[in-house]
Amino acid sequence: MWLFNSPIGRKVVMSLTGISLILFLTFHCCMNVVAFFSGECYNVICEFLGSNWYAVAGTLALAALAVIHIVYAFILTAQNRRARGNERYEVTASYKTVSWASQNMLVLGLIILIGLVLHLYNFWGNMMFAELANIQVAHDPADGFAWILETFSNPVYSVLYLVWIVALWYHLSHGFWSAFQTLGINGKIWLKRWQIIGCVYVTILMAVFAILVLAFWLGFAPSMCCA
Ligand code: HEM
Repeated sequence: MWLFNSPIGRKVVMSLTGISLILFLTFHCCMNVVAFFSGECYNVICEFLGSNWYAVAGTLALAALAVIHIVYAFILTAQNRRARGNERYEVTASYKTVSWASQNMLVLGLIILIGLVLHLYNFWGNMMFAELANIQVAHDPADGFAWILETFSNPVYSVLYLVWIVALWYHLSHGFWSAFQTLGINGKIWLKRWQIIGCVYVTILMAVFAILVLAFWLGFAPSMCCA
């Protein structure tokens, strides 16, 4: 089938899964904004998600998207290297103009994957998984606010999360416009526009995550109460 067998088909799969993952991050970012204002309200969202069937279905869909995106990243990188040999770009004169992020998407992706494993261990493992497997953990599995407080009171985790967020910023700021280019947004003007829109959008998302880490690390977390 075209989507799986041809190089352009594989790039389309990468683009569509990438855009879907950015949409998830947008939801996750909006959810996390609530933690700036109230622990109690944040936990209402965590309880609503919990280990309910729709949250588990969402997690499985998300995992499938992430696995397809990662597997195709390896296939496409190997295919490009085979086609170009040691020369990673056909026209070496323009090599310098290719952004650092675009040359290092696979490495950035691997850093992001390691960070994601740590993040799932910190949160998903102590929340949804603990509830599903009926495992006793330090806090209530639905008390997302307590897990945030505990995770970012540890400076090692806070620094690792900030490094992870910077890697995500580089990866997404390139991936965003690259996805739209693959899906047919051509022409210099629109490409430039998508680059600017992508950069602003991704910067806002990552800034929210980073400021949350800093706020909880440095003791500016809100109280539990909604009022
Ligand atoms: C730095 C601030 C962040 C905080 C405080 C945070 C918090 C959380 C919490 C509380 C959960 C568990 C939700 C639940 O099971 O009800 C979760 C899950 C998750 N987070 Fe984050 N998160 C942060 C950043 C990120 C980033 C940057 C990513 C992007 C890669 C990410 C990806 C995920 C994924 C994939 C899950 C599992 C979702 C699921 O089970 O469907 N998180 N996060």
